[in-house]
Amino acid sequence: MTQQLVAETEAIVRKRMTGQAAGHGMDHVLRVLASAQAIQAEAGGDLEVVELAALLHDVGDAKFHNGVERSAEFAREILGGLGTDRDLSEHVAHIVDNISFRKGASAKPLSLEGKIVQDADRLDALGAIGIVRTIEFGAAPPPGVPVQPFYLPDAGNEKTGIGHFHEKLFKLKDLLNTDAARQMAEERESFMRAFLDQFLRESGEEV
Ligand code: ADP
Ligand code: NI
Repeated sequence: MTQQLVAETEAIVRKRMTGQAAGHGMDHVLRVLASAQAIQAEAGGDLEVVELAALLHDVGDAKFHNGVERSAEFAREILGGLGTDRDLSEHVAHIVDNISFRKGASAKPLSLEGKIVQDADRLDALGAIGIVRTIEFGAAPPPGVPVQPFYLPDAGNEKTGIGHFHEKLFKLKDLLNTDAARQMAEERESFMRAFLDQFLRESGEEV
């Protein structure tokens, strides 16, 4: 029964997210699912909750719904439609509602399962994938956000992808909840730093 619920949820999410940009569509969701499963194997917690929350965490992303974040609402609707037990569906909706970086201080405390999915989501902003997602975000930003280059010589106060590395991405490792995710972040962050050094050297900057 439980594996069936996860499989049915995955099929619905896949359908809903068709056509959403690479880097923030089903490919992102499946990577977050795989990382969350790997973290759960070390950190424990309820695997079914972890899998459902990973699958549903961006299903109503604000970028695709006129700036309104609807993931928790859609999570309840999808799980309710599959006849899910109310406690389970409320736990998953609470996670989906509170893992986002944007929530900042207003986010409510997360369960172990929520911490695992939050770590998995953050890991996907790091490494080779994280580099590509940053470039894609800059080239095709959500409505209302100006296009931003990855690099500008003498960027000053202008927003760039490299600026985003420093302002957010290199801070993520210290914000992670679990040791398992911290270990996975290590390699991803050093790859990004090596990439950045090489990129800046090729751009004629002192590194
Ligand atoms: P998620 O919803 O999966 O938590 P976000 O929507 O916050 O992720 O970001 C999606 C991707 O775009 C991430 O890889 C993130 O690092 C990148 N991104 C977000 N904001 C910016 C920005 N201002 N400049 C460049 N990249 C960004
Ligand atoms: Ni996400």
